Amino acid sequence: MNFDTKLLHAGFNPKEHNMSINVPIYPTTAFDFGDVQRGADLFDLKTAGDIYTRLSNPTNNILENRISELEGGLGALSFSSGQAATTAAILNITSSGDEIVAASTLYGGTCNLFSTTFKKLGINVKFAKGDDVKDFEKEITSKTRCIFMELLSNPALNIIDIEALASLAHKYSIPLIVDNTIPTPYLCRPFEWGADIIVHSTTKYLSGHGNAMGGVIVDSGNFDWEEAGKFSELTTPDESYHGIIYTKEFKKCAYIVKARAQILRDMGSCPSPFNSYLTISGLETLSLRMQRHSDSALKVARWLQDNENIAWVNYPKLEDNKYFELSKKYCPLGASSIIGFGIKGGAKAGVKFIESLKIPIFTTNIGDTRSIITYPYITTHRQLNEEQMKACGISDDFMRLSVGLEDVDDLINDLDCAIKASVK
Ligand SMILES: Cc1ncc(COP(=O)(O)O)c(C=O)c1O
Repeated sequence: MNFDTKLLHAGFNPKEHNMSINVPIYPTTAFDFGDVQRGADLFDLKTAGDIYTRLSNPTNNILENRISELEGGLGALSFSSGQAATTAAILNITSSGDEIVAASTLYGGTCNLFSTTFKKLGINVKFAKGDDVKDFEKEITSKTRCIFMELLSNPALNIIDIEALASLAHKYSIPLIVDNTIPTPYLCRPFEWGADIIVHSTTKYLSGHGNAMGGVIVDSGNFDWEEAGKFSELTTPDESYHGIIYTKEFKKCAYIVKARAQILRDMGSCPSPFNSYLTISGLETLSLRMQRHSDSALKVARWLQDNENIAWVNYPKLEDNKYFELSKKYCPLGASSIIGFGIKGGAKAGVKFIESLKIPIFTTNIGDTRSIITYPYITTHRQLNEEQMKACGISDDFMRLSVGLEDVDDLINDLDCAIKASVK
């Protein structure tokens, strides 16, 4: 099946669900084991089937299979949020004393997770000082267990050369994990460039309507955990699971099976089947939405660039953008919905601008059908001092716009009125 057909059909067979055309919601916590032998086999992971919704649920399974097929993966695991998926993706292959190397331009919540909670767990995250592969290589030691990056990072919109970073990771026998939330598999499929694991916040574009939290990990199945020789949790007996050796039992699926059987079992951050249902419904229109988000964002970015009251515009598809060439390679169809721009007149103009807008909603989300404006200086980053803000690339003029699916000319007219009001 091609991509658009997979959006509607992958991972779901109506014959297994009373011929229902729509994916049913299974609002149940537990599943009947049937007979004693089947119960025992389920717990020994000898037979596939649902036990308890914290571990798996038919609605969640369909979402996992569909996203896995869209990314070209071997298997996926769904979570209650993107944060939960990122946490599990890393905890699945790290223990206290290990290190990971991460891009410095990441979603703020991921930065907090890495520099606060992982630190408390004894997992040391070293942030690369720049985008170049050499910046990542400098931070790698014998304790490094993976490299983590975000594509079209939020909010800096950097594009890191995935292919080059995957080669670097493999040179050191470690996997590359890519947060592909903002491009989605419609705009970029990191496995095609050598990435090993993908994480998503499905809360954003995959569900797409601002109505369901969720996250997912997708495993390419390509990383050889045994050959790497440094992932003993996958290659030696798991005493918490009858001494199972994941690589021996599950071969290429070892990583994703362990994530479910051990990490999800213990952390419990499973999604509600209702949220998975909403995400599956939203996914059906992913291609249409992502193309419209991207086309409208480019039109708005070009318009902002020509506006005398705008100090700067950051959008990777603008010809003079630092990442224009990489955007052609990794995101040929478009660069998603987010634009960063600076309004002349600093915080005073910024406040007037926000208060004058009628269409974009003033909040922190992205990837909604509706346009969303975020003013980090006044909201998400206000607890930081000026120096910390500078380090995060936040200035008093910085606006982040997630361009929605409204008529783009209405949006431009609204921005025009608000910009004019801001300089009065
Ligand atoms: C790129 C990226 N990754 C992960 C997350 C975290 O996702 P969630 O809010 O679903 O936990 C976000 C949230 O904004 C994000 O933008």
